[in-house]
Amino acid sequence: MTRHPTPHALRLGVNIDHVATVRNARGGQHPDPVRAALAAQAAGADGITAHLREDRRHIRDADIERLMASIAIPLNFEMAATPEMLGIARQHKPHAACLVPEKRTEVTTEGGLDVIGGRDHLQRYIAELGAAGVRVSLFIDPEPAQLDAARALGAPVVELHTGAYCDAPEGAERDHELARIRRAAAHAAAIGLECHAGHGLSYETVGPVAAIPTIVELNIGHFLMGEALFIGLDAAIRRMRAAMDAAREAVPPWTGAP
Ligand code: PXP
Repeated sequence: MTRHPTPHALRLGVNIDHVATVRNARGGQHPDPVRAALAAQAAGADGITAHLREDRRHIRDADIERLMASIAIPLNFEMAATPEMLGIARQHKPHAACLVPEKRTEVTTEGGLDVIGGRDHLQRYIAELGAAGVRVSLFIDPEPAQLDAARALGAPVVELHTGAYCDAPEGAERDHELARIRRAAAHAAAIGLECHAGHGLSYETVGPVAAIPTIVELNIGHFLMGEALFIGLDAAIRRMRAAMDAAREAVPPWTGAP
């Protein structure tokens, strides 16, 4: 059984990239993403997530170093599978690394990794990160075949991309996307993968995902940082945590039974 670093059955990883986006708009030091990480930690976050992009549009190299030195909760380092990022991950040895596809021109991570098509490329990264003691997750669309490929490559964790679900209009289309996430999360448990989820989640969309009993971690950033402008980061995180807990408490504990 997986041991979790915190007592929460459903962990909340707070993505602080967009604090860095605002800082970078003026090129100075304010607002400081490390200060946001410490505030998230104080508000009950179970982990901090940060994506060091090739173009450094959010977090920068020095931020990773400062995060590692400052926070007491695990760092989930989002990275593209490139030699440069592998070197940085091996240098800092964060608790976890989430491999994501990265396109220079995209506004945000548009879709999941193609683990099936990219297996020869990804294999080395999964093995080398694992050997460095970093827990590897693969950010994928909720497709059982992608989960099977992740399992075959020896990744211990997958993170399901919830963007299509969050972007879909309420009704049949969103229900369809939620059903895909549910099926994929059940499949993850059946084949022995730890299952996380994230992208685009808000107070409105988080409940049904938090209620899926085999999902053990949600990573949420953009909505929380936007909401923090109006009610503050501490209150935004506490409200998200409460929405997650309320949805989760309504669900019987997962027994592994079909
Ligand atoms: N998980 C992964 C792998 C991501 O790439 C992102 C966005 O950086 C998130 C979660 C968080 O998404 P959002 O900022 O939309 O909450």
